[in-house]
Amino acid sequence: MKHVSVLLDESIFAISPKENGIYVDFTLGAGGHARMLLEKSAPEGIVIAFDRDKSAIEYAQNTIKREFQDRLILVNDNFSNALAVVKSLGFNAVDGVMMDLGVSLDQLTSKDRGFSFAEDAALDMRMDKTKPLTAAKIVNEWSEKDIENILRVYSEERFAGRIARNIVKARPIMSTKQLAEIVEMCVPRNLYKRIHPATRTFQALRIVVNDELESLKKGLDAAVALLKPSGVVCVISFHSLEDRIVKNAFRDYKQKGVIRLINKKPIIPTKGEIAKNRRARSAKMRCVVKNKTEDAK
Ligand SMILES: C[S@@+](CC[C@H](N)C(=O)[O-])C[C@H]1O[C@@H](n2cnc3c(N)ncnc32)[C@H](O)[C@@H]1O
Repeated sequence: MKHVSVLLDESIFAISPKENGIYVDFTLGAGGHARMLLEKSAPEGIVIAFDRDKSAIEYAQNTIKREFQDRLILVNDNFSNALAVVKSLGFNAVDGVMMDLGVSLDQLTSKDRGFSFAEDAALDMRMDKTKPLTAAKIVNEWSEKDIENILRVYSEERFAGRIARNIVKARPIMSTKQLAEIVEMCVPRNLYKRIHPATRTFQALRIVVNDELESLKKGLDAAVALLKPSGVVCVISFHSLEDRIVKNAFRDYKQKGVIRLINKKPIIPTKGEIAKNRRARSAKMRCVVKNKTEDAK
């Protein structure tokens, strides 16, 4: 696995695992955060780790699961179902929840997943391959208006209309490279110096294919509901739409007296971390503690 964990020390410091604590990693990926939670909660801590991508679970089964055995419970499911799943495993409340959103570097660079225009692949983008909606379905079957709409809403793309029109004209679009070239032709080069012109279009498609923002809202509710008093949730997000949802959800829970914020402003990676891992540059982490007065159900 190539994925390098983002804000690893900062998130584990905020969660401060105890030796017999129960932790849930909502986003297992390559297992960096889960491993650290297991190491820091040794010898008796338990980590329940979710990933909707079967390949992340299979990788963990052959690696960290062998090392940590019964202390690690792997769940191949959407974290939006975490409340029911964790309770069904016999845990009523937990000491900490880790959420490191988005896709892993392994998913991004995997030749057959279609998440990135850096690799020419079929337009898939599903984290969970059992789901029917793919990026190819959207670009080849949805109406111009609907495509324009998702580009506006999920990537705040200024050239959404022009891109949608050219996508519909160029059908059928079968590969990531083909889509990236179409988008490139629609946007003025000088406006996209820091990111590739297709970055926003790919982000919007990925969010829709995986219903990412709805999952996030449900996941945040599940995380807060699962926490014991004094338990901590840490969420790392990678773009403004995600961060806004996290910020607003925590603000609402704070107003209801359920949680308090550990940090008023989001924690961001150091220059040193960004120099080592470029993917970290857009990361923002928000952490909250459950109030003692709010009884964990
Ligand atoms: C950024 S990676 C996590 C990396 C991990 N923290 C590490 O250190 O290796 C995000 C992972 O979360 C998974 N994921 C994203 N949204 C999910 C959801 N709603 N439910 C379950 N897993 C999800 C993705 O499949 C991906 O493997």
